[in-house]
Amino acid sequence: METFYRGRRYRENPILRRALQETTIDRNKLIQPVFFTEAPGSTEVSSMPGMYRHSVESSLPYLERLLKKGINKIIAFGIPAEKDETGSAAFESDGIIQKALRETKKRFGNDLYLITDVCMCEYTSHGHCGIIRGNNVDNDATLPYLGKIALSHVDAGADMVAPSDMMDGRVGIIRNALDTNGYTGTPILAYSIKFASSFYGPFRDAAGSTPGFGDRKGYQLNPPNSRISLLEAYADMEEGADILMVKPALPYLDILKELRISTKLPLAAYQVSGEYSMIKAAVEKGWLEEKSAVRESLVSIFRAGADLVITYFAEDLDYDQ
Ligand code: PBG
Repeated sequence: METFYRGRRYRENPILRRALQETTIDRNKLIQPVFFTEAPGSTEVSSMPGMYRHSVESSLPYLERLLKKGINKIIAFGIPAEKDETGSAAFESDGIIQKALRETKKRFGNDLYLITDVCMCEYTSHGHCGIIRGNNVDNDATLPYLGKIALSHVDAGADMVAPSDMMDGRVGIIRNALDTNGYTGTPILAYSIKFASSFYGPFRDAAGSTPGFGDRKGYQLNPPNSRISLLEAYADMEEGADILMVKPALPYLDILKELRISTKLPLAAYQVSGEYSMIKAAVEKGWLEEKSAVRESLVSIFRAGADLVITYFAEDLDYDQ
């Protein structure tokens, strides 16, 4: 009698294989990013095939299709007509995102859960995520703006706010701005562990938010670091974040897993634009099969410990598996 391990007993029969599957993809855990623009109609993002920038009006039938497919959460990004030094279009009450929030709430009520990205880079003329002093983003001068932006989103109908700017102290400032205005029940999803990644390129194309000078390495995290990166998540937790996020997803699953082990808070991961475009490009070339590649990448993110995944693929999958 041979004595080696017979692991194939677990997977040869497809019924047993499925029954023993430890991780599944549930559409209730997916969040679709949506780009809202002041320009009319819908235009495809050239570096993100299948993703569009929508005017508020043309977003409504799109959002209706999303809901029909069972995707009931979006994260909204705004692309304003005008940008300035202080990103003022980010907090005006008739800014693009505020208009989009009011219209979508009016149309879909509580059937569609609205999360907003709180940041300045899509709104500033220099493309940085805060107020510039000299050659630097001034952390403390930026904080009150972030509080104001988050508050303007919730005033317009946001159900949750997600700060992505990577300034120190922003979660506490935003929590305070919401609480003192009666929004104690609005959760904060903090982009806590956000790396200075080359995988955001297609997003910056979509949002026109490439920095005009320098880079974001002074505020976004250094990719080789895991210990120092985890400290960001602990700080956000102390300041009152309700959900912590790791971004990008696939290249940083080790960090997601470590965070899963070291906190009880719900965790999110963002499968970013570059992760989307890489798969799309390989599919276009006939080098990968889309559905199975997407499923495998998503299931890996859930397996590492994500409770929620932001992904551009949310809208076009029949994933329950
Ligand atoms: C805004 C923001 C960015 C992304 C999400 N929020 C861009 C950046 O930090 O440059 C990237 C998302 C993606 O690549 O899909 N700060």
